[in-house]
Amino acid sequence: MPQSHEHDVLIIGSGAAGLTVALNLPAHLRVAVLSKGKITSGATLWAQGGIAAVLDNEDSIEDHISDTLAAGAGLCHEDAVRFTVEHGKESIDWLVASGVDFTKDDNAQFHLTREGGHSHRRIIHAADATGYAVSSTLSQQAAGRPNIELMESRVAIDVITHRKLGMPGNRCVGAYVLNLEDNHVELFRARFVVIATGGASKAYRYTSNPDGASGDGIAIAWRAGCRAANMEFNQFHPTCLYHPHAKSFLITEAVRGEGGYLRLPDGSRFMDRFDPRGELAPRDIVARAIDHEMKRLGADYLYLDISHKPADFIRHHFPTIYEKCLEFGIDITRDPIPVVPAAHYTCGGIMTDHRSRTDVNQLYAVGEVAFTGLHGANRMASNSLLECLVYGRAAAADIARCEADVPPPPEAPDWDESQVRDSDEDVVISHNWDELRHFMWDYVGIVRTTKRLQRAKNRVDLLSREISEFYSNYRVSNDLLELRNLVTIADLIICSALQRKESRGLHYTLDYPGLLHEVKDTVLIPTTFRSKAP
Ligand code: FAD
Ligand code: SIN
Repeated sequence: MPQSHEHDVLIIGSGAAGLTVALNLPAHLRVAVLSKGKITSGATLWAQGGIAAVLDNEDSIEDHISDTLAAGAGLCHEDAVRFTVEHGKESIDWLVASGVDFTKDDNAQFHLTREGGHSHRRIIHAADATGYAVSSTLSQQAAGRPNIELMESRVAIDVITHRKLGMPGNRCVGAYVLNLEDNHVELFRARFVVIATGGASKAYRYTSNPDGASGDGIAIAWRAGCRAANMEFNQFHPTCLYHPHAKSFLITEAVRGEGGYLRLPDGSRFMDRFDPRGELAPRDIVARAIDHEMKRLGADYLYLDISHKPADFIRHHFPTIYEKCLEFGIDITRDPIPVVPAAHYTCGGIMTDHRSRTDVNQLYAVGEVAFTGLHGANRMASNSLLECLVYGRAAAADIARCEADVPPPPEAPDWDESQVRDSDEDVVISHNWDELRHFMWDYVGIVRTTKRLQRAKNRVDLLSREISEFYSNYRVSNDLLELRNLVTIADLIICSALQRKESRGLHYTLDYPGLLHEVKDTVLIPTTFRSKAP
């Protein structure tokens, strides 16, 4: 018999964003935090480089703001950048007070590393495994709070709104959630719902992200009537380990920050030909330069080399990468590391304000799933975890401020499975999944053209019809739900890319190589999307 639950706040996602919200809510609120897999299954656990914040007297808020604006190629919302940067230090102080053990230097001060686009050393980190330190500390904290229920193996399917219940108003009141332990769909009712499901880089064949990064929250909020913005800006990280057995392993940008060089197969350096900042140019420029050189030379990968630094320094700063590469026979104190770009971060997302509110009342979106305006056309390294913290705390503060005026959720029907049966053709799901991620990589990747985007659009339309038919006839599974969401994500990315008739930041198209004078977000609105889409 499927269960039903009632909470004050339902948080979908247990990464930095979801746990920050949960831990900053008042203790009298009953909170559920859902996770698709283990509590630590999101991208947060995988973060390496660190968190950007102004923590050094030599640095300044204005410099962090102007670096972020420059990396964002004219498209950042300055108010969002200022809001985030100004709340940076207090967010880091909160993490430190929560017990995150950041690396210190010889003077017992926090060691700050450097990454692309940053004019100062401003990245606080826990060696090269910052995400592990953040994720494990916050999940331990949450597990110790009596008002927070951590629920693993729960996949949110859709949120429940007044509109879906045929009631007046525009309020979110819960969600339907697949319990992977018994394969039943549960009803969660709540006064507030927070979507913190992370990004959508799994739409691409090669990605640095964990398996669950299928854009579920963006698709769920979109279906609930929320606007999505700037979905064409998919960030490709320049340096993921290239090895047949190394699935999704990132080589942090801090390797370049600490003096690593990018090299061609003949050992020569090349970044100076593309940007005066060389290896420390913003990510879009470095990824495009690598892509260009790989295509020019017909190379499967290029190299990232830090072997000229002392071996002790390398092992001390990059212990995780050192060990991981050694597993594949690469000793980074002596050998260059084979690297390729891979889909890494979703700059666009569900539109939110400074309180993390979406277009639907009592529905919030926080973290990589959200579009706050911070990243513009290209996210600067290590600004993402910062955004999770700042906007997570803002969402919690807003819920605390208004919760006394929000009534309990209304009754809602159980999930109806009377019209569906078990799938007898799961091959449709696996085939369509592969096809989607292949054409997204080939046609909607680092370098685009209108013709390639249109080809991708034709295929996505076909897949959408097939998957929607499958969804109506068969019982849901995690694979089907992820595929259904990925098709929506692909559609949003392609339609946004087709609308942008210029090359800006991460969106680079051979048909419009220049910048337009007018600087504008691409905003897709659910009700008008079909008619507006090309
Ligand atoms: P996540 O941490 O991805 O968490 C998402 C959560 O949502 C998970 O718990 C997942 O199980 C859950 N979920 C998803 N869908 C559903 C669903 N349908 N139902 C229920 N639960 C669901 N950023 C930095 O600032 N600094 C770095 O050094 C850095 N390094 C990175 C290294 C790697 C390899 C990667 C992949 C990313 C890195 N990033 C970094 C980016 C950053 O880690 C992410 O943007 C950030 O962690 C996102 O946090 P989040 O809480 O929004 O989502
Ligand atoms: C990295 O460590 O290179 C990733 C940093 C980020 O994505 O912000």
